[in-house]
Amino acid sequence: MNLIFLGAPGAGKGTMADMAVQKLGIPHISTGDLFREAIKNETVLGKKVKDILASGALVPDDVTVAMVEERLAKPDAAKGWILDGFPRTTPQAEALSRIAKVDLVVEFGVRDEVVVGRLSTRRVCKACGKIYNVKTLPPKVEGVCDACGGEVYTRPDDREEAIRTRLSTYHAQTAPLIAWYGGKGLLASLEGEGDPKDVFARFEALLAARDAKAR
Ligand code: AP5
Ligand code: MG
Repeated sequence: MNLIFLGAPGAGKGTMADMAVQKLGIPHISTGDLFREAIKNETVLGKKVKDILASGALVPDDVTVAMVEERLAKPDAAKGWILDGFPRTTPQAEALSRIAKVDLVVEFGVRDEVVVGRLSTRRVCKACGKIYNVKTLPPKVEGVCDACGGEVYTRPDDREEAIRTRLSTYHAQTAPLIAWYGGKGLLASLEGEGDPKDVFARFEALLAARDAKAR
């Protein structure tokens, strides 16, 4: 199954995708994670996008589409994938439709003020990307990843100014994709607020309803 997780920054796309990977056995492909990996490894791409990510603006479409196309061609993506953070503009969605067939787009709806609260308390493992929250989901030992022992840090774009930029960019450039995919009959919108386990249960119920309908 080829899935897209759509939603504002902090909507919980990464958190839900990590849970869905265990259920569906398909890879979680986050364009933000791919960019952060390139920045960490100081590749040509990483140097090009470092300041863009820190500011909260979007990386140009051609750069992003080329990176995704390369990632989707890897063997583990042959049986399906969860795309998180891509597409984020209409030209990216059009490009994806030329590269692959999308089965379902799941939009997680969360109010802006909730997003700001979540992102200002988020922490992430620098080594493996595992997502934490100092208020709701702290690592067992402060600053140390439970999963790999890596350093748990604050993303450079989780500063208030960059959070505001990301939110306004989301509303201007990404939210129109809700109607775009809705028009193609591919969209399912879920309430993204509430306990992560409850949000995930809504996602599971959505998949079960689709399965029942297909039978
Ligand atoms: P990206 O990494 O995709 O960032 P984002 O879209 O801003 O989304 P986030 O990762 O911030 O949020 P999330 O929805 O994954 O939430 P999470 O699960 O972590 O992109 C970063 C940058 O890369 C962009 O700004 C851009 O520069 C560039 N980029 C990426 N893709 C691009 C593209 N396609 N085109 C151009 N540029 C691109 O959860 C957030 C917090 O909330 C965590 O602390 C978590 O523990 C907590 N939480 C999660 N769910 C719940 C819940 N239900 N209740 C309470 N807390 C919760
Ligand atoms: Mg994320």
